[in-house]
Amino acid sequence: MDFKSKIKDLEKKLDALIVAHFYQRDEIVELASFSGDSLELAKKASSTREKLVVFCGVSFMGQSVKILAPQKRVIMPRLACCSMARMIDSSYFDISLKKLNSLGISNDEIFPMTYINSNADVKAKVGKMGGIICTSSNAAKIFDYALGLNKKIFFMPDRCLGVNLAKLNNKKYSILGQSSDSEIKDSEIICYDGFCSVHQLFSVEDIEFYRNKFSDIIIALHPECDPKVVELADFVGSTSQIINFVTNLDENAKVAIGTEFNLVNRLTKKNGNKENIFVLSSSKPECPTMNETTLEDLYNVMKAYSDDMPYNEIEVDSESIKYAASALNKMLELS
Ligand code: 13P
Ligand code: SF4
Repeated sequence: MDFKSKIKDLEKKLDALIVAHFYQRDEIVELASFSGDSLELAKKASSTREKLVVFCGVSFMGQSVKILAPQKRVIMPRLACCSMARMIDSSYFDISLKKLNSLGISNDEIFPMTYINSNADVKAKVGKMGGIICTSSNAAKIFDYALGLNKKIFFMPDRCLGVNLAKLNNKKYSILGQSSDSEIKDSEIICYDGFCSVHQLFSVEDIEFYRNKFSDIIIALHPECDPKVVELADFVGSTSQIINFVTNLDENAKVAIGTEFNLVNRLTKKNGNKENIFVLSSSKPECPTMNETTLEDLYNVMKAYSDDMPYNEIEVDSESIKYAASALNKMLELS
């Protein structure tokens, strides 16, 4: 029996739900019972009837399920990390706040907002301060809410998403570690200096290249791209939103997409391999950790669970769950 049927048998036997992010390999996405962007995955996997969730994605995504539904067990074929999420932890959070305090900005004046691409300890710090979480699909809406509080928004870890949101709302922004003290004091949005190495690959030159080649090309991007690139785009959205946007375009429309390779390649295949969907980069924009998960990994982790020898199980301490859940639930109420 091949891995696919063995995995499906185990899914039934364990009464599990296998979910996959769009950046996973095709064979994983095809086999999963549900795929989606990070918000859809968190909602679906935490509200499903099944007590066991097998999450094919990166660790912060599995943690989101555990935070929202601590009674569930969540295992991952690989404890793959998101490099952006790894750029901040609770001690860097504290150091950043101290830096702001040293500039005369008190904690009462700060509203912390973290992108969902962060670990549970950071989400808990944010929740403890009354802050909120956002994802790429609801960032604009959550940011609107945050702006209404009339505090300085400390946005982490993605400086690109933070700057993109600030620019969209004509707000003064600064970047910790890059901007001067006076710029930080003067800004309404203070961004942590994290970024996604995959989405940094897309450049203004890439857009110019495609626009010179095809005057009618449409540029669709993920909001983790550099602000200079985002400024030139026709559409900016989450992975699901990009898929919907491209799927609903006229069949002859040409589009260059600035997000991870597996997702774009799948859209090209779905479109009959017609040469009108392009990867907006000369080098392959692969998320290395997302790409690691294989069918064999998926089978092995489920088999071990079934043999009562679980590994790669997501654990989040109860204190972190409490505070991270308050920030996540606040987001869910608003989105
Ligand atoms: P989405 O929430 O849009 O799926 O994005 C997750 C991610 O990690 C993008 O790099
Ligand atoms: Fe993280 Fe970037 Fe990979 Fe998304 S593409 S999971 S932000 S490293």
